[in-house]
Order: sequence, then structure tokens, then C-alpha cells
Amino acid sequence: MKMKWKNIFCLMLTLVLLFSMTACGSTQNSGEEKQPAAANEETQKSEETAAAPSDTEQQSGEPAAETPQSTENTQSTENTAENSETDGSRILVVYFSRTGEQYTVGVIDHGNTAIVAEMIAEETGADLFEVLPVDDHYPMTYDELTDVAKQEQNENARPAYAGEVPDLSKYDTIFIGAPVWWGDWPMIMYTFFEENADALAGKNLVPFSTHEGSGLSGFDEKLSSAVPGSTVLKGLATQGNDCQNKQDSVRESVKEWIAELGM
Ligand SMILES: Cc1cc2nc3c(=O)[nH]c(=O)nc-3n(C[C@H](O)[C@H](O)[C@H](O)COP(=O)(O)O)c2cc1C
Repeated sequence: MKMKWKNIFCLMLTLVLLFSMTACGSTQNSGEEKQPAAANEETQKSEETAAAPSDTEQQSGEPAAETPQSTENTQSTENTAENSETDGSRILVVYFSRTGEQYTVGVIDHGNTAIVAEMIAEETGADLFEVLPVDDHYPMTYDELTDVAKQEQNENARPAYAGEVPDLSKYDTIFIGAPVWWGDWPMIMYTFFEENADALAGKNLVPFSTHEGSGLSGFDEKLSSAVPGSTVLKGLATQGNDCQNKQDSVRESVKEWIAELGM
């Protein structure tokens, strides 16, 4: 009888051991199954980012900063950033802008048009290219600058710009901006349009201006004539003074405009 009880006890012990091993195995499996689900969540975020690039910063930044939960999450967040860079590289912002003394704002160290160009790049993830004069012959005082600009316009000059233009074949859409100078694009922008006319043909071009009363000043029609074969989309005109003093409202207009353009 004593032996029987011992046998029954051993059998029960074996059963208990077997049961607990099975339970352990299933816990490990459920852990593994969760990983792809988390990865899927991040993949969805990447797709949303592609559809709404203006939210890229928020979507990729918030989870990484606030909930560094696991290695998988961190890696996915990095992928999201890479994806948004790839998306952004299809858009380029080309701009010309001056610092120094400007109308109504005094001496500035960040040009009005540069401020709008950077906002567009931030909102769309675009690359930036600044058109800079080869030998910077533009004066830093407003009156002298207006004289030089008027002379260039009268002569229909084509001032040379510095730097290597990015490979334009990489881009579908190119935002192009400048200050209004005497009711027109600064002449240096025509140098850019004409030298790159072939590469710009077939692209979506989006003009933007900063000004102190003249609005877009026909930038769209003039761009269309200077670059035959391009599609010129709706432009944006921003008051130069607002770029320095009302940046929140300028950013709102930039966001609305980009949304209207469907980007
Ligand atoms: C040479 C020159 C000509 C200008 N001509 C005009 C003009 O015809 N109409 C206008 O509204 N503003 C005109 N402005 C004002 C500029 O367009 C405005 O200050 C612009 O925001 C400057 O941008 P930036 O800082 O990017 O160079 C002119 C300014 C300069 C320096």
C-alpha cells in the first residue's frame, strides 16, 4: 500500500512538471507573436507619413521621444524618418533672398524669402537650394540695392549664380521663390530658369514671392514663359514684414497652401 501511494505521488509530480513546461513554452510564443504586430503598427505610421508628409515630424518624433519601449519600436521610428527623407527628396525648394537693409523691416540677418523657403521645406520634407550670386555685388543698404536691381532690369542682365544645382531629374515638384524686385523676378532668377530650362520642363513648378505690396507680381505667368513645357501651380505671395514679425500666421498660410496643392 505504501509503495502504491509513492507511485501515485511520482505520477502526479511528473504530470505537474509536464504541465508547467508546456505553459512556459506558450508564453514565449505569444511574446514572439507580438513583435510583428508592433512592427505593423509602425508600418502603418510610415504609410500615413507618406500620405501626409506635413505631419512627418510629429509622427516620427513623438513616439521616439516619449515612449522608447523596445528596440523594435526604436528601429521602426528610424525607418519612418528614412522613409520621409526619401519622400521629401522628390520635392525641391529653390530660392533667392537678401539680408541687410530691407524695406519696412530694417537690417535683417535672415532674408524674408529664405524664411518662407525654409517653412516649405519643413512642412514637405523638401530639399533646399539657395541661388547665390557668384560675386556678391548686391549692396547691403536698401537704396543702393534698388539702384543696382533697377540697372540689371533695364539691361535685361543675367547675373551668374554660384554653386552646383542639385540633380533636377530627382524631383517631381520644384517650389521657386524670390523677393519681388521692381514688379518682377530678380534678374538672377532668369539666369537660373534659362540655364536649367530643359531640366525644369515637364516638372510641376510652384512660384512664391515675398513683397511689400505687389503680391505675386505675375511670377506664375513669367515662370511659365521662361520654362516652356512646365506646369506652373498656384503660387503664394507673402508680405516681407510678416516673415520677420508674424511667423505663426505665415506658417499657417504656408500649411494651408501646401494642403491645397495636395502635398
Ligand atoms: C531692389 C528691390 C526692389 C523691390 N521692389 C518691390 C516691388 O516692386 N514691389 C514690392 O511689393 N516690393 C518690392 N521690394 C520689397 C521686397 O520685395 C521685400 O522686402 C522682400 O520681402 C525682400 O525679400 P528678401 O529679404 O528675401 O530679399 C523691393 C525690394 C528691393 C530690395
